[in-house]
Amino acid sequence: MKVYVYGTGCGAGDLIDTALPLEQVSGFVDSRPTSETFLGKPVLSPEDLAQKNYDLVIVTSRHTEEIALRCEAAGIDETRLLFLKNHVTLIDRNQSYAAADELLGTAFVENLRSAQVPVPVPPWAGRSHLEKTDLENDYVRVRTLEALCGCLRDVPGAVAELGVYRGSFARCISLLLPDRTLYLFDTFAGFRQEETEGYGEGFIGAHRNTTLEDVRKQLPYPEKAVFRQGFFPETAVGLEESFALVSLDVDLEESTYAGLCWFLPRLERGGYLLLHDYNDPALPGVRNAVARYEEETGKRLSAVPVCDRNGSLVICG
Ligand SMILES: C[S@@+](CC[C@H](N)C(=O)[O-])C[C@H]1O[C@@H](n2cnc3c(N)ncnc32)[C@H](O)[C@@H]1O
Repeated sequence: MKVYVYGTGCGAGDLIDTALPLEQVSGFVDSRPTSETFLGKPVLSPEDLAQKNYDLVIVTSRHTEEIALRCEAAGIDETRLLFLKNHVTLIDRNQSYAAADELLGTAFVENLRSAQVPVPVPPWAGRSHLEKTDLENDYVRVRTLEALCGCLRDVPGAVAELGVYRGSFARCISLLLPDRTLYLFDTFAGFRQEETEGYGEGFIGAHRNTTLEDVRKQLPYPEKAVFRQGFFPETAVGLEESFALVSLDVDLEESTYAGLCWFLPRLERGGYLLLHDYNDPALPGVRNAVARYEEETGKRLSAVPVCDRNGSLVICG
């Protein structure tokens, strides 16, 4: 059987770690391949895939519509596509579960079907300054960011993201706050090795699959971005800034703790630090880091939880 995975990011890594052993994967597919291999397997374009034998293509990216159209244009059989993540505005994009049922088993498909809970975009949400593909990522998360940015008018300071990966959230920040200097902290090559003990090969490998130049291309206002490449907090040494908005998204405990210790004293009054994954049971280090910070400083943070996909926390300056 020939199973391909569409996507070479965290979604694909997650699938490999939790449901589909890498040995069962013939290769990966990407709309814009940036490397020839991912987790040691070949990466194809949809057009390359159409020339090969394939039984099932599991789509892990959230850009459902774009991928469906691209596959149709390439001549890929729609009934062989299995969308793991439906676009928020769709009921169920999957045309057929037959191939998945046959190749991966009924239990896999039943699990997937019960996880498909599409959230319609509410009519009262109003117009967004973000683009459709930005909203597809995690609607509640990016709209929360947009609402917070709308409250920063009188708040001075730069903006920053620690944990940028491929830049999809940094892109939203850049779009929403085009006049502010945007500091971007990441290794652009994955996590500090000592911090990843106990995490899966897919999770670790997927986060290596990015480059600083790819992120720069994502940004609508690259001239306002200052890249600090390397391990944080080393990359913040000598930086004298205060911040109106910070996105902290490094998944693991030590780096999250370092981010809280460095950014919170530099967060302006009226500003916000948006901490991703606070209520994600798969990443308990994030919550631990907040508890440690509060205990060690003796300060109770003023914070509001958000019901986005990974349970962010908004910490107020
Ligand atoms: C989950 S990803 C960030 C995703 C991104 N915020 C988004 O929403 O698209 C986590 C990133 O944190 C980075 N990271 C983790 N610890 C770090 C550290 N100590 N210094 C620099 N980057 C770090 C990893 O390289 C990875 O790219």
